[in-house]
Amino acid sequence: MKKIVVLVSGAGTNLKALIKAIEKNKIKNGEISLVISSNEKASALAIAKEHKIKTLVISRKNFNSKEDYQAELFLKLKEENPNLIVLAGFLQVISKEIVDFFENKIINIHPSLIPSFCGDVYGIKVHEAVLKKGVKLTGATVHFVNEKADDGPIILQKSIKVKETDTPETLQDRVKKKVEWKILPKSVNLFCLDKISIKNNKTFINN
Ligand code: GRF
Repeated sequence: MKKIVVLVSGAGTNLKALIKAIEKNKIKNGEISLVISSNEKASALAIAKEHKIKTLVISRKNFNSKEDYQAELFLKLKEENPNLIVLAGFLQVISKEIVDFFENKIINIHPSLIPSFCGDVYGIKVHEAVLKKGVKLTGATVHFVNEKADDGPIILQKSIKVKETDTPETLQDRVKKKVEWKILPKSVNLFCLDKISIKNNKTFINN
C-alpha cells in the first residue's frame, strides 16, 4: 500500500475527491497518511479530520524566512516518509532539496492546460487570464514536480469548453468539478499501481 501525504492551503475540494476515490476503491493500493496545511484556517483541515486523517499545520507566518519554512517542511516529510506527495492547492514553493529527495514522487494539479497559463499564475488568476485571452478550451493538468513551476512531466490533462458567459468563478468551478476531481484521483491511482514511467521528461502510462 502506497503512503500518500497531501499538501493543502485552502478549500480542499481536491483532497476530498482523493478521499472519496480511496473510499470507492477508485484509487487502489493507496492511503492518505497525513495532510499538511500551510494555513491553519484551511477548510481542507476539517475535511481531513472528518475522515480521521492525521493533520499537521506548518504555517508560513511562524517562520522568519522561506528557507526556514522549507527546512521544517522537509523535516516533516522525511519523518513521514511517504511514497507519494500530492500538492492539492498548496500555495508554498517546494524547495529543490525536497524535489531532489522525493524525485518523481511529488505531483501537482494546475488548473490550466500546461504549458498555457502557468508558471507565474495560480488560483483564480489562471481563469481570469484564460477569459482575458479568449481561448475556447481550458482544463487542468496533473504533472510531476521538478525545480521549475508547473514544468515537470505531464501525467494527465483534460479539456472543457470555455463559455461566452463564463466568469472566472464559474470557470474555476467547472474546471474543478469536470476536470480536477477526475484527473487527480486517476493520476494517483496510476501512480499507486506503478503504471507511470518517465523517459526524456515525458510520462508513459503502462496498461
Ligand atoms: C485547484 O484549482 C488546483 O488546481 C490548484 O489549487 C486549487 C485548489 O483547490 N492548484 P482546492 O483547495 O482543492 O479546492
